[in-house]
Amino acid sequence: MTRRVEIVEMAPRDGLQNETAVIPAADKIALIDRLSACGFARIEATSFVSPRWVPQLADGAEVMAGITRRPGVAYAALVPNMKGYEAAKAAGVDAVAVFLSASEGFSRANLNCSIAESFERVRPVAEAAIADGIALRGYVSCVVHCPYDGPVAPAAVARVTEGLLRLGCHEVSLGDTTGHARPEEISAMLDAVLAVAAAEKLAGHFHDTDGHALDNIRVGLARGLSVFDASVGGLGGCPYAPGARGNVDTLAVADMLMREGYETGLDRERLARAAAFARRITGKEEER
Ligand code: HMG
Ligand code: MG
Repeated sequence: MTRRVEIVEMAPRDGLQNETAVIPAADKIALIDRLSACGFARIEATSFVSPRWVPQLADGAEVMAGITRRPGVAYAALVPNMKGYEAAKAAGVDAVAVFLSASEGFSRANLNCSIAESFERVRPVAEAAIADGIALRGYVSCVVHCPYDGPVAPAAVARVTEGLLRLGCHEVSLGDTTGHARPEEISAMLDAVLAVAAAEKLAGHFHDTDGHALDNIRVGLARGLSVFDASVGGLGGCPYAPGARGNVDTLAVADMLMREGYETGLDRERLARAAAFARRITGKEEER
């Protein structure tokens, strides 16, 4: 039987958050609506973080109100704290994602607190999401390399992953935030994480700065992971990870998976059109 692999689409959130020119909410809505027709089960639509920290996504409520929800698609938002959770819930998201770092330097830069403090901040978010029946995902950033602290120990990633699962996350997405991880480093990191978490609870979130993301996904697949985050047009980056490039390109992942005998359920032509639109609204290329 063909093995099914899910791609979780990141472009509206991770893809756009690093863009400096403000993209109108109408364009974000049009992008999400195009993505909704591609066959994704999950789209990360926006974030509800401090607008001073990420001005590009300050219009999350407007975007959520404007999209045409497609049955079968879960629309998620990234939230750092209860304020973000309440806003996301009011906007009607299906899922929230909390995000922690495996390194102290990035935690401080991205969330203005230590790893221990970030656990305390997201604990009430987890409790509320579970009580409200809103799906709860977790991210661990800097799973191999931190732009501030350098190499990250696999044991640190395992600790944060375990903590997020204990809080009730149904899945933890492992982020190579800088996009510098090499396949052997992903493998070593997974050795530690798989000792505390089942592969079915894990996702891979690889940025593609150095061009290793597809090989890193292959490592994940070989270790039993079946969920990978990607962004149409390869858009993205984190404002607090200087130099990091976009998420791995959704189309490249879908093509690679198809060639290698996996099923994604995605419509390649619609995906290509959504990618062209994403690149156009970010000024990267004319829509074809
Ligand atoms: P802080 O400045 O320490 O927060 O930032 P604070 O609690 O002291 O509040 C400061 C102000 O922000 C207050 O407003 C709050 O109300 C407001 P003021 O009274 O000054 O007018 N505020 C908020 N406003 C709207 N929504 C909120 C919110 N929270 C506070 N949710 C904070 C702490 C966590 C808020 C800040 O650091 C933050 O927003 N960080 C988010 C940064 C971010 O979004 N980074 C990108 C996403 S992570 C990522 O890309 C990695 C990932 O893709 C995986 C990977 O690749 O590794 C997920
Ligand atoms: Mg990311």
